[in-house]
Amino acid sequence: MTQKRVLSGIQPTSDSFHLGNYLGALKQWVELQDGNDAFYCIVDLHALTGEIEPALFRKRTLASAAQLIALGISPEKSTLFVQSHVAEHNQLGWIMECLAGFGEASRMTQFKDKSAKGGADSARVGLFTYPMLQAADILLYQAHYVPVGEDQRQHIELTRDLATRFNSRFGETFRLPEGYIVKAGAKIYDLQEPTAKMSKSSGSVSGVLELLDSPEVNAKKIKSAATDAGREVKFDEKEKPGISNLLTIHSSLSGRSIADLENEFVGKGYGDFKGAVAEVVVEYLRPIRQKALELLEDERHLIDLLHEGAEKARVVASSTLSNTYKNLGLVK
Ligand code: TYM
Repeated sequence: MTQKRVLSGIQPTSDSFHLGNYLGALKQWVELQDGNDAFYCIVDLHALTGEIEPALFRKRTLASAAQLIALGISPEKSTLFVQSHVAEHNQLGWIMECLAGFGEASRMTQFKDKSAKGGADSARVGLFTYPMLQAADILLYQAHYVPVGEDQRQHIELTRDLATRFNSRFGETFRLPEGYIVKAGAKIYDLQEPTAKMSKSSGSVSGVLELLDSPEVNAKKIKSAATDAGREVKFDEKEKPGISNLLTIHSSLSGRSIADLENEFVGKGYGDFKGAVAEVVVEYLRPIRQKALELLEDERHLIDLLHEGAEKARVVASSTLSNTYKNLGLVK
């Protein structure tokens, strides 16, 4: 395979990433860094569209970096950086806002959902323009692939639309990116409410498996996961959303096929199955959690790594931005 550009981002909006982030996106980030030119960004500016508390926000940004490295993102192989360290994101973001239509921005489901949740008055303008900043994140790096979960599909479509529009009006400037969305794992569901996606902003903490939770807490959450009618361990998203979600989690982490897992649990109940899922998850996450906590003990080192990443990112970002300005006719 020839080298491809890869770009993705994650918001530092909670103390820990959750298993949905990992299976939907971060696992692919780690895989794609081999043989590609990967840029991974902690999108702190996007996180400003929600409530933040400064001291906690700073801590969460560093905890995000520690978790990404602990999960296997290597600062030598990939360019790992913080969005606010590379000013070109805001600069191209503005250009994207001037290109996007009010109507198409209004159709973004994530904006509609989030603004509906808090009431129209509490929604910030930044929440509305969020997808245009995301488009800038992607287009600045001329990305071929954007590894994300299912919920980001629409944002990537918008990014492609904006890139196409810009290129046709002002000349070839941006590469059209493609979403890299896996089949299994692109949408991991809440353990307590297996028809809703596992989410940092979800009401139930007990339905969310956090990477930095203790093994005991995660084991308990899995053992008390909501299950479905019947007692057969079978993948059936319609009739058995809870069991299907647990099968996806087990299979994605253990590398075993769903059919193989169904076979193993023929004649056994949900209890045995949940015990097995808990063991797989806990053993998978144990070294990751330990590594992340170790990394967090040396903040200076983490910050240095992020600064080095930003420097590398800036080289690519500034070249795209200056070409964009030139094509727009901005006087240099
Ligand atoms: P964020 O921070 O909400 O989530 C990070 C990644 O995790 C995926 N994800 C899930 N995947 C499967 N199941 C789930 N339950 C689940 N929950 C979250 C998300 O799809 C995402 O890939 N807008 C983005 C951040 C962003 C970005 C970018 C992404 C900003 N700029 C540029 C890619 C490229 C977001 O809010 O992700």
